[in-house]
Amino acid sequence: MFNKKLIYLCTLLLLTQGVTNAMAQSVPAFLVDIGPYKDFFLTRLTDSKKIDFKIKKKHRKPDLSELPAPVTDSDYYINENDNPAKVELGKFLFYDKILSGNKNISCATCHHALADTGDGLSLPVGEGGQGLGITRNTGKRRHKIHERVPRNAPPVFNLGAYEFAAMFYDGRVEIDPSFPSSCSTPAGDELPEGLDGVLACQAMFPVTSPTEMAGQVGENKIANATANGNLPKVWRLLAKRLRKNKQYVRLFKAAYPEIRRNKDITFVHAANAIAAYEAVAFRADNSPFDQFLRGDRKALSKKAKKGMRLFYGKAECSTCHSGKFQTDQDFHAIAMPQIGPGKGHGDSGHEDFGREAVTEDEGDRFKFRTPSLRNIALTAPYGHDGAYDTLEAMVRHHLDSVNGIYNYDQDQVSLPSRKDLDRIDFLVQDNPALVEQIANASELSPIHLSEKQFQNLMAFLHALTDPNSLDLRKTVPKKVPSRLRLHD
Ligand code: HEC
Ligand code: HEC
Repeated sequence: MFNKKLIYLCTLLLLTQGVTNAMAQSVPAFLVDIGPYKDFFLTRLTDSKKIDFKIKKKHRKPDLSELPAPVTDSDYYINENDNPAKVELGKFLFYDKILSGNKNISCATCHHALADTGDGLSLPVGEGGQGLGITRNTGKRRHKIHERVPRNAPPVFNLGAYEFAAMFYDGRVEIDPSFPSSCSTPAGDELPEGLDGVLACQAMFPVTSPTEMAGQVGENKIANATANGNLPKVWRLLAKRLRKNKQYVRLFKAAYPEIRRNKDITFVHAANAIAAYEAVAFRADNSPFDQFLRGDRKALSKKAKKGMRLFYGKAECSTCHSGKFQTDQDFHAIAMPQIGPGKGHGDSGHEDFGREAVTEDEGDRFKFRTPSLRNIALTAPYGHDGAYDTLEAMVRHHLDSVNGIYNYDQDQVSLPSRKDLDRIDFLVQDNPALVEQIANASELSPIHLSEKQFQNLMAFLHALTDPNSLDLRKTVPKKVPSRLRLHD
């Protein structure tokens, strides 16, 4: 404690005297004045110039070289004017329940523009549920949902940028040129060629999930094909549905010159269009922070600037939330409380081992992809299972993660209640041995911030909100070619 104060004092002295890094090579004259602290400070100065420099960074100006370069068009492989007809087609497909086995759910049900590209719930309510966002219920009678979706529906902002080369919290869909589709995925070589990128590869999958979109075996042909593990058949059946709709045929032809006859339409065309829509509609790189990086020094409030210094300094957020989108695109364990049915891992079958399920490396247990923090103030709840309902709670967890998981408040979950589902929601959290395993894996060490510093950090996180994302109504179609309902 004493040492910390001392270093701070000396740094302040250094700064007020305007000492540069170069001067640190020789003994600054003013050091003579600081009497008993001189020797200590000199060893610091000569042994580790790096440390001194870092302290200077933390308490004064942030080291601008640590800040990312501003985002530009060239960071994205899909841009607004590439093919507007494709984006238009993708917009309809994203909102059209025609892509689900029972025609009762669309991509937008879980990634709705009016819910900031999520659904506002800790864990989504898949096919069978009714309603939108936090009002969605678990469905009625034989249509009711069979289980909760085990992971939070993440926001889909900025995913048309090259650096998002892996999708999902565990990165199980990833760019990999050794596959015909150029993506390594759970479908292996079955994933067809011709997909525009990893975002399009991802769009092939929700339609094949019984819980998310396909439905249960016996309910429809798509669900049956899914149950048999025949994904190519799922995609063929969906393409067939789309070919039967005159308006879709027109839209597909307008978007793709190579489509001349109805039978040329494939689900790959649909996935590419959906990816184009997501990338264009949900690009969000004009936040006050972006404007600051582009040279407008006044774009950030004083508080946000202080918070930025903490983010890139003392609070160590940028160790993982680095780069242009505040993610290192890597996987880390941060002791997130585990809620919901889980991914079938562990003895209980209700755990979620995260990245380990992809790499089969035990060292990756409980690691999840570092999420981008763009628009983070808009996209509650947080974490791979939506365990934290507020941004404040999520950030406080980071500052003391082990304490966070042990003292997790289960009341905050945002989930529609149903007895049989509720019963398994906290099986892991209520098991001290399992909680201990998650806690032990945490890579975060506790960090102390004063209340003021915490508020400044929050101000910076709010400054990552793109004002254009505050109103996404124009990205929502008023009706879809299938004429299926849009309001849930
Ligand atoms: C029932 C809810 C639900 C539906 C419907 C749904 N998703 Fe998702 N989506 C999720 C969940 C949950 C995840 C995260 C799963 C994981 O990480 O394991 C996800 C992940 C994603 C991701 C990856 C985001 C990232 O950063 O890793 C994209 C992109 C996406 N969905 C797009 C779509 C598209 C396109 C559709 C329609 C074809 C769709 N989703 C339908 C719930 C849903
Ligand atoms: C060791 C790496 C690491 C560090 C350091 C770190 N984070 Fe995270 N952060 C993650 C990971 C990994 C997740 C996702 C965890 C999960 O889903 O289980 C995450 C999630 C988040 C989320 C929720 C995002 C979402 O969309 O759900 C926020 C907000 C966040 N971090 C902010 C911060 C802040 C602020 C700091 C600094 C105080 C910080 N993080 C430091 C790795 C890190």
